[in-house]
Amino acid sequence: MGKSEGGELKVSFRLKRDAACGEIDDSRRGSEVILNGWVAKRRDHGGLIFVDLRDDTGVLQVVFDPRASEEAHGVAESIRPEYVLGVAGEVRRRPDGTENPSMATGTVEVLAGDVEVINPSITPPFEIKPETNVDEKIRLKYRYLDLRRDDLHQVLKVRHRIVKAARDHLDSEGFIDIETPQLTKSTPEGARDYLVPSRVQPGRFYALPQSPQLFKQTLMISGFERYYQIARCFRDEDLRADRQPEFTQVDIEMAFVDEDDIMGVVDGLMAAIFGAVGRKLEIPTPRMPYSRAIELYGTDRPDLRYGLNMATLDGVFEGTGFKVFAGTLKSGGSIRGMRVEGGQSMTRSDLDGWTGRARELGAAGLVWFVLEEGGLRSPVAKFLIEEEKDGLTSALRMQPGDAAFLVAGDRGMCDEVMHQLRTDVAKKLGLAGDEFRPTWIVDFPLLENDPEAGRYRSLHHPFTSPTEESLALLPDEPLAARARAYDIVMNGVEIGGGSVRIHRRDVQERMFGLLGIPPEEYRSRFGFLLEALQYGAPPHGGIAMGLDRLVMLLTGRDTIRETIAFPKTQSASCLMTGAPDEVAPGQIRDLGLKHSFE
Ligand code: AMO
Repeated sequence: MGKSEGGELKVSFRLKRDAACGEIDDSRRGSEVILNGWVAKRRDHGGLIFVDLRDDTGVLQVVFDPRASEEAHGVAESIRPEYVLGVAGEVRRRPDGTENPSMATGTVEVLAGDVEVINPSITPPFEIKPETNVDEKIRLKYRYLDLRRDDLHQVLKVRHRIVKAARDHLDSEGFIDIETPQLTKSTPEGARDYLVPSRVQPGRFYALPQSPQLFKQTLMISGFERYYQIARCFRDEDLRADRQPEFTQVDIEMAFVDEDDIMGVVDGLMAAIFGAVGRKLEIPTPRMPYSRAIELYGTDRPDLRYGLNMATLDGVFEGTGFKVFAGTLKSGGSIRGMRVEGGQSMTRSDLDGWTGRARELGAAGLVWFVLEEGGLRSPVAKFLIEEEKDGLTSALRMQPGDAAFLVAGDRGMCDEVMHQLRTDVAKKLGLAGDEFRPTWIVDFPLLENDPEAGRYRSLHHPFTSPTEESLALLPDEPLAARARAYDIVMNGVEIGGGSVRIHRRDVQERMFGLLGIPPEEYRSRFGFLLEALQYGAPPHGGIAMGLDRLVMLLTGRDTIRETIAFPKTQSASCLMTGAPDEVAPGQIRDLGLKHSFE
């Protein structure tokens, strides 16, 4: 409830809009309109006062001229940015020479005949304008003001269009939207759960879902053959630019299908989403085996917009006299190289800089080479024989003018460092264009080593089916087993992942066994699923797409915080509301919990 200037309380307003700022153009010239909106800018040009009025559709210039209305002009003298106004006036062409081509409504203005201050605003902590360099913490604290910026309006509108396109497309393909619980049991996506204590059952906890995985599988058993949901998921994990503690998936599950069916549905869905934002996507999306992605890019989420391809050089340096490489190979490590096209143009200090970056990322060092007319230039060239130099240039397909970066050590470390270097080099050299290069990554291993826990863990999740051929490998060579899993990756970001599931209890129990989960534990956590699998579970599979990440890419943002209306910070706080927060001792007592924190 606002207080009017006279001091008496007021809840209504007099000038109710009959037009929207962004819709006013030349065709409305001469007509009377009433507008509502916020003061984006006010300029007093001695005599004339100009106000840029902003609403959800755009910004329009309003002129207050005392010759048109002295009273309106008088009110305009007192208004400030972010006041909410009602303005009535006549649409007219801007005088010649005063048009503003950078504004969509830049050829017209409204000459105010009447104005109402519907609600004043105190001075905002930052100016609300399209481009901002205000500290993100301040913007997040006053998110409601930051969200007034057109930029964020546009992102959230694109997000809306993407969700709508996804719903329409999936509906037309026979999928139905089914909601699954938010108060549930711990789910298995590998992050920590957010827990919710039960009041009526003291000492017991719900978990917020990390994904609807088990419910959607259960729905297949219930005979819903095409399910989808725009599902909110919760994961208590370390946050990065493309991770939030709560995020949204376009979650899909289908019965009586194989990998090709699911990838086909997602290709169609992606094409529909691209169409909704005015882009065209070539489908089918190409596929790349996991092993090839790792070999060429050091990661299973490669950015295919540029080259900078890698190669393993162990064979080239087998028996080398260069001690660093010889030592690495002897201790079971690897030598990985990356071709930097046109890298000759890098200065000595650039090259030293990349060496420093590799060290920062965890490598012992980096060896660089430049291929010049006269041969390979490198601080270590003198330690190598011709055969090794030839092997290196041909393995990396180097052309004169190219550079190569080599890192030696543990294979996992090399891949991680080289992947990061590849990303950084591409950024520094501006190699990534604004096109979209999605790819499916297929033929994943089923399991990987979890050295900390001293056992295997699933690359996807424990409900992913091994391939038929891999079943025989499970007892003796489980790490060689392949999964019926697929990820969709675009411009270096994993935007979706899924699999064909295990639909038989015996196979599922075998999988839990392989993962070193004791029967008491898997029965207590997933007993309901194991039971359900015994009642005629159909073969099924699905996928979940990361909606926030997709919106981030399609709107050209660097972080998913820009795609979520009320995101959380790196430390999982909502700076606007102050969550997470302490609660009253009584609330803790009600839950049967004791309050004791360090
Ligand atoms: P997964 O864990 O791969 O699979 O998640 C699917 C997709 O969700 C997105 N994503 C995230 N986005 C933002 N913040 C996060 N913290 C975050 N974590 C994941 C990614 C990812 O590709 N139940 C399986 C899917 C299935 O098998 O059907 C699952 O959740 O884009």
